[in-house]
Amino acid sequence: MRIHELAKELGIDTKELITKLRSMNFPVKSHMSSVDSDTAEIIKNEISVLKEKEIEENVIEADFPISVKDLAVRLNKKPSELLADLLREGKFININQNLDEETAKKIAYKYKINLKKKPSQEEVILHTESKNLKRRPPIVTLMGHIDHGKTSLLDYIRKSKIAEKESGGITQHIGAYQVTLPKGKISFLDTPGHETFTAMRSRGANLTDIVILVVASDEGVKPQTEEALDHAKAANVPIIVAITKMDKANANPDMVKQQLSKIGLVPEDWGGKTTTIGVSAKTGKGIDELLELILLQAELLDLKADYTRPAVGVAVEARLSKGKGPLVDILVREGTLQVGDCCVSGHFWGKIRAMNDDRGGAVNEALPASAVEVVGLNGVPNPGDQLFVVPDEKAAKEIVEKRREEDAKLKLKSPVHFKLEDLFKKVKEEKIKQLKVILKADVGGTLEAVEEALRKISHEEVELVLTHKGVGSINASDVLLAEVTDAIIVGFKVTTEPQARDLAKQKGIEIRVYQIVYELLDDIKAAFEGMLAPHVKKIFLGRARVKTVFKLSKSGIIAGCIVEKGRVQRNFACQVLRSNAPVYEGKVQSLKRFKDDVRDVAEGVECGIGVGFDGIKEGDVIDVYSEELVTRRLKE
Ligand code: GTP
Ligand code: MG
Repeated sequence: MRIHELAKELGIDTKELITKLRSMNFPVKSHMSSVDSDTAEIIKNEISVLKEKEIEENVIEADFPISVKDLAVRLNKKPSELLADLLREGKFININQNLDEETAKKIAYKYKINLKKKPSQEEVILHTESKNLKRRPPIVTLMGHIDHGKTSLLDYIRKSKIAEKESGGITQHIGAYQVTLPKGKISFLDTPGHETFTAMRSRGANLTDIVILVVASDEGVKPQTEEALDHAKAANVPIIVAITKMDKANANPDMVKQQLSKIGLVPEDWGGKTTTIGVSAKTGKGIDELLELILLQAELLDLKADYTRPAVGVAVEARLSKGKGPLVDILVREGTLQVGDCCVSGHFWGKIRAMNDDRGGAVNEALPASAVEVVGLNGVPNPGDQLFVVPDEKAAKEIVEKRREEDAKLKLKSPVHFKLEDLFKKVKEEKIKQLKVILKADVGGTLEAVEEALRKISHEEVELVLTHKGVGSINASDVLLAEVTDAIIVGFKVTTEPQARDLAKQKGIEIRVYQIVYELLDDIKAAFEGMLAPHVKKIFLGRARVKTVFKLSKSGIIAGCIVEKGRVQRNFACQVLRSNAPVYEGKVQSLKRFKDDVRDVAEGVECGIGVGFDGIKEGDVIDVYSEELVTRRLKE
């Protein structure tokens, strides 16, 4: 085949082809040079790869959905051309109508343009790569039962480590504070309860590196201790147990340790893995050791941040002050926050006019893991909202405006989080192998009975995980926990608190309450069945024989084949056989007829098949299957 003929077939200029071939080290003298058919085939493939690469690199960004008119501007084409393209695809659309991302991309591809979704300014900022990573202090949250001494412990730490050096003592309250010890700094978060902790996580702000579970030595493990523990476990962070009020006459740390062992926190001194430490906020006993333990744990975690990138932080508290306007306590996570920075948080923005540290002193900058009170936002964001620095006011306004629009849209749609009915779909998509359940029952006895019955519905492939169990009505804390752990809430003979019901509706969490235990078990069984990996039924589609094997720079090894039987279809499962024995299983990743990608190839036709198997050889057979999923039943 002559070069000019090949060029014609490829639809490119002969000169262009010659230049390309020379750059690919194919020695060509002139357009009258000729190549044999195998070489022509390789050239065709190489050129198509090159073309694809060129398109891939020819990026134009756009927002989706995009109107035909706007797309025409972006692609530098006449709208009528695009309308004709759409018509050819069977889409009768007018110039002002919107196209979805997929359709717009397809049209652009025809014009050799790689149309990409324009990242929002917010995405650009939040996804700025963190480089120059340096050590940062740990962020520690205290959690536990009411009145077990969290605040007293923090106060003691603050007073002994900060206030003693400050003449004015503690001048103000801030939602987070940092202490400086000879061996390093620690940032503490003063959470009023585990609900806030989980609420922050549900907004994507997993702030905490370490949780201190506070248990009073006189009262021991209480329902809320367990609840806090479940929330901490769901956050997947190390837990240190502080057994407080050790100065009290009726302090009983052994009882506490026994109770801890029962809830899966076996103390180290009892041969377990949980670090426990007895402390007192009255006498200060054990507190230095606790701080040591925190620093030790932090060192193991090797916590790092980029101090130089645009700052990102989280609002831990926010309020309105009469004189100064909105005040927001920010815990900085990445970068260094500076006075004068323009930033966005929640639905608000502003230029930082002033910053105070946790001692009330004015500061000009805040480093990663430090807490500051920020003055200058034009509204009060919600705790858990991120705060991030933007280049200028214009960017800030745009982001806030867009967020408000999107929120308004979201309000019209209620989110779908997790439903029993969706499990089957979900298992196919993500292969979850755990059914996570939050179980609430009316009394301890029934809770145990239901739990036991649930554990009996087991299967080696799917595991039932009780994210949390408890006695009493279904509350907001349960819903938040369900949200962050992707659990469903199952109640037995209990009610749902109105607040929890609203929250569940808003977050799309499924709550199921039962009065009859068999109904509960039947539903869970059905969910399990949906989660079992379905049987795969193979249906033979076609067979191809490998005639030659060649390598393409982008697609890898391609087998030049002839379809001997049936049809070969792209994206379907396949098996490579050599002397009738299977040597590889995979998928038809690419299917080509000459330079074109095709969806299927019929019997008797030649094609190029890529299955991702480098060892494929001439003479091998590729069998292609479709796979049908068949639901399995639990054994009774
Ligand atoms: P909530 O924030 O309401 O959940 O409580 P908390 O866990 O922050 O407890 P807080 O620090 O407010 O302490 C509750 C009570 O226990 C207070 O009366 C404290 O004085 C007392 N208390 C706290 N720590 C100690 C301690 O180490 N020893 C003694 N004797 N009393 C303590
Ligand atoms: Mg408190």
